[in-house]
Amino acid sequence: MRRCRGSGREPLRFLPRNISAIVKAFDAGTSEEGRSHELDLHDRTIMMESGTGNGRMGRSRVHIHLLGEFREEVDTCLQGLLTQGFAADRLPLFPQSVAAVGKQDILVFSGEYRSEFHTAAHLSKLVGSHRDRTILFLSNLEPTSFSLFERAGFPFINVTTDQTVKSLVGLIAEVDPQAVYQASKTAAMRASVSNRVAHSVVDLFSRLRGNPQAPKLEESRSQQRAMSELIGKSPMSVWIDLIQNYHDGTAQHCSLVSGYTLAFARALGAGEAQTGRLFDAAFFHDVGKAMIPLEILDKPGQLDPDEWKVMQQHVLHSYDILCRDENTSGEIARVARDHHEYLDGTGYPNGIGGGQIDDITRIITICDIFAALTEKRAYKPPKPFDEAYSILSSMAGTKLDPDLVRLFEKVAAEAAGDRRLVAFAA
Ligand SMILES: [Fe+2]
Ligand SMILES: [Fe+2]
Repeated sequence: MRRCRGSGREPLRFLPRNISAIVKAFDAGTSEEGRSHELDLHDRTIMMESGTGNGRMGRSRVHIHLLGEFREEVDTCLQGLLTQGFAADRLPLFPQSVAAVGKQDILVFSGEYRSEFHTAAHLSKLVGSHRDRTILFLSNLEPTSFSLFERAGFPFINVTTDQTVKSLVGLIAEVDPQAVYQASKTAAMRASVSNRVAHSVVDLFSRLRGNPQAPKLEESRSQQRAMSELIGKSPMSVWIDLIQNYHDGTAQHCSLVSGYTLAFARALGAGEAQTGRLFDAAFFHDVGKAMIPLEILDKPGQLDPDEWKVMQQHVLHSYDILCRDENTSGEIARVARDHHEYLDGTGYPNGIGGGQIDDITRIITICDIFAALTEKRAYKPPKPFDEAYSILSSMAGTKLDPDLVRLFEKVAAEAAGDRRLVAFAA
């Protein structure tokens, strides 16, 4: 096995050894929208931006705001609209929230009709002059209430019992055809970027199978640009869904690890250079799998002990491949070799532990495990995100860095929050 020369880079450090004060500051910072915090970590300053990842598109687009008390029905609509490229959210039912919506936005009352709450007088007062851009998408609306709403000046009332997202989109098209056009363009763009990412990963692995030369760093950089486009501009559930539907399991895994790493980098307040280093390490972490026979790599079920031994070799193959180019030699190769090592020394290939595992490897390991748990295969449904995070938590302190697992909760919670909506939509 060859030895990497090393990149001469300073180790990437996110965490001082005594982290508790930082975790507290991080929690305080992330609990307040839009605040920035400067934290001094290992004598370096990292800007922590919070409140930037709410998944909203630019304000120039029409936002669809859903108002309703019945979480399941409203969330079903919300998830459907997000998937179809709309900028949509659930709006708290307070007059001040409704008063703050943009003039071009569309309000939707979604859910089960309740005569005591959905009165024409109450809703008229709540939406005020926004009535012309308000849709009453209520099931079981009585004919008498329908005429009362009509008389109160609500022009867009659901007249069918068809409560699907498709029928809601039909009503939105009546209010604002341009909003529907924009949404379909956004959905098409996301699908195209997502396909490009999937094809590039499949292409990389098939090239490596034919000729195991070190991939060029530029390959990771262009993937980072593509994935940032997808991830930075889409709600988390949308990009996870797109990646989970990749046909190729390895493309799905590498993209998911890279996506979680980008989300984790944002949660950690990593700067541009640090994010780039994390992404490179994530994107190339499993390149050695190109050397694993496909009948083992893509086996639809548990590996037997001999197959497992072969599979474990992927970390050494990765190291070997990445050491062949000076740009991927060093940190990237080391992370690829060590990302299955555990703090308690029970991992592989070398059983190193504790301080021998650096921060960047600890970060990639967490993203790698979370991706493996939440992947979707024909033979394996993804674990729910809160369950996947519980598994990570159960490994914190013994196998995984407890402070990093704690900080990853933000990423997992964001994924779980969105995912609950999908569960309702299913
Ligand atoms: Fe791996
Ligand atoms: Fe992996």
